[in-house]
Amino acid sequence: MQIGNRELKKIRELVYASTGITLGDKKDMMIKNRLNKLFQTYSEIESLEDLTRKLKNDTFKEIFINTFTTNKTHFFREGHHFEDLRNRVLPGLASRSGSVQIYCSASSTGEEPYSIAMTCAESKASAKQAHLQYRIVSSDIDTNVLRRAQEGIYSFSPDNTPFPAWINPTKYFKRRLLDDQKEEFLIKAKEGLKQQMEFMQMNLFDTAYPFGKEEFDVIFCRNVLIYFEIPDQQKILKRLFSHLKPGGTLYLGHSESPLNLSNYVQNLGQNIFVKQRPMP
Ligand SMILES: C[S@@+](CC[C@H](N)C(=O)[O-])C[C@H]1O[C@@H](n2cnc3c(N)ncnc32)[C@H](O)[C@@H]1O
Repeated sequence: MQIGNRELKKIRELVYASTGITLGDKKDMMIKNRLNKLFQTYSEIESLEDLTRKLKNDTFKEIFINTFTTNKTHFFREGHHFEDLRNRVLPGLASRSGSVQIYCSASSTGEEPYSIAMTCAESKASAKQAHLQYRIVSSDIDTNVLRRAQEGIYSFSPDNTPFPAWINPTKYFKRRLLDDQKEEFLIKAKEGLKQQMEFMQMNLFDTAYPFGKEEFDVIFCRNVLIYFEIPDQQKILKRLFSHLKPGGTLYLGHSESPLNLSNYVQNLGQNIFVKQRPMP
């Protein structure tokens, strides 16, 4: 299929309608490259009409959505948030009798929720927090990355994979040497680490989320709002906020902003926000 301006416009509309992701003018090349790859597999698609028809099939729609997500992530990305979780949030919940509830809302291939799980596991080493139980719910719209997150298998090289000094990766991952010259390993999350984790597919653009009111103590929403227009970011933030407990913590990515939540949170700096009161 030839991809001209008419096709690009339609693709933008289709991606927005199913994900809320806005592909700006500078993304023409990216759209073309990704579509061309998709059309190599589905050579029967010869026109926009074929594509629209094919999108009625749920399996193809899933593949189409996965084509347009950007999944860049790494372990302990924006490490100050894990320091804050370890030094302020978890000690503050030490008197809690039930589980600490954490939601990671765009978990990509899983490095972010596994970093959260390791941080929680480390906090149990302190006598005051040894009794704490954790539930870490992770979601993403992209079913490919969710599968990879559930597997928990990653390539790892001590020089390039930035774990903080207080984490010993071998405590949480089994490892197999891939290349001894380069010290490259394949690591696999141990069952003990996975035990308190749940993964689910969820579209942040949906008008309601499958969680209880004020269910979570902590919400990570990092490096995903940037793909949405401001009015859509505001709606997502408002929905997420309704699932955060008063006093709970919201972490946003480095170039994201709490927008309409500003009057309802205490800003601790470094895109760390504490819920002061519900948003009406
Ligand atoms: C750049 S990654 C960020 C991953 C991680 N949060 C981090 O900060 O490293 C953005 C993720 O958002 C997901 N995403 C994009 N649109 C989404 C939507 N509408 N609902 C849920 N997840 C979405 C993508 O699939 C991708 O995995």
